[in-house]
Amino acid sequence: MSFPVVVLISGSGSNLQALIDQSLSGALNINICAVISNKKEAFGLQRAQLAGIPTHVLNHKDYASRELFDLALKECIDVYQPKLVVLAGFMRILTADFTQHYQDRMLNIHPSLLPKFKGLDTHARAIAAGEEYHGVSVHFVSAELDAGAIIIQAKTQISIDETPETLAQKVHKLEHIIYPEAVKWFSEDRLVVKETGVWLDNTLLPENGFQYSS
Ligand code: GRF
Repeated sequence: MSFPVVVLISGSGSNLQALIDQSLSGALNINICAVISNKKEAFGLQRAQLAGIPTHVLNHKDYASRELFDLALKECIDVYQPKLVVLAGFMRILTADFTQHYQDRMLNIHPSLLPKFKGLDTHARAIAAGEEYHGVSVHFVSAELDAGAIIIQAKTQISIDETPETLAQKVHKLEHIIYPEAVKWFSEDRLVVKETGVWLDNTLLPENGFQYSS
């Protein structure tokens, strides 16, 4: 039996697609057992359905509080007994109870070289700050937003005429490489989180994670 994974999305789902493609090609030995979205119009739901993956929509607006939404989300996820929960463009701030429940078994991808540029509009902010490089990080999810232990990063140079849109495109390409890679490591039991940091194949990674280079 391959490794059960539940993916949470809110939008286009191109990272979800990268995971689907690699699991279909056999590069990634995971079973995406469900895709859950908080938005019914998320295009990623169609991608999942096309791949024959069960989908669920839980609209956060139907719940009286963040706590109640997270509780319902947890119940929906846990039906599938995933070994890993993958946040792939899931645009919700999660409660500490929720993040604790999935501690060390929930990953997120964030479009910046963390710890720089947590939160939104990262591409525009990196350009405005005059950064030479921008990029993407995959990290374990902790209670604090975009602050969990970093597993892998990939970077790209910001060119003179860069716009947030062109930069987002460059970063997206890197996302589709490093997210499946991190999921692969996790599913093969090669990643361990300890007090000291993240270990890959019994080697302690730097604080900003494994540095991917093409
Ligand atoms: C990505 O840029 C990811 O880094 C961020 O949300 C976006 C999701 O894109 N967390 P997609 O829905 O996977 O295309």
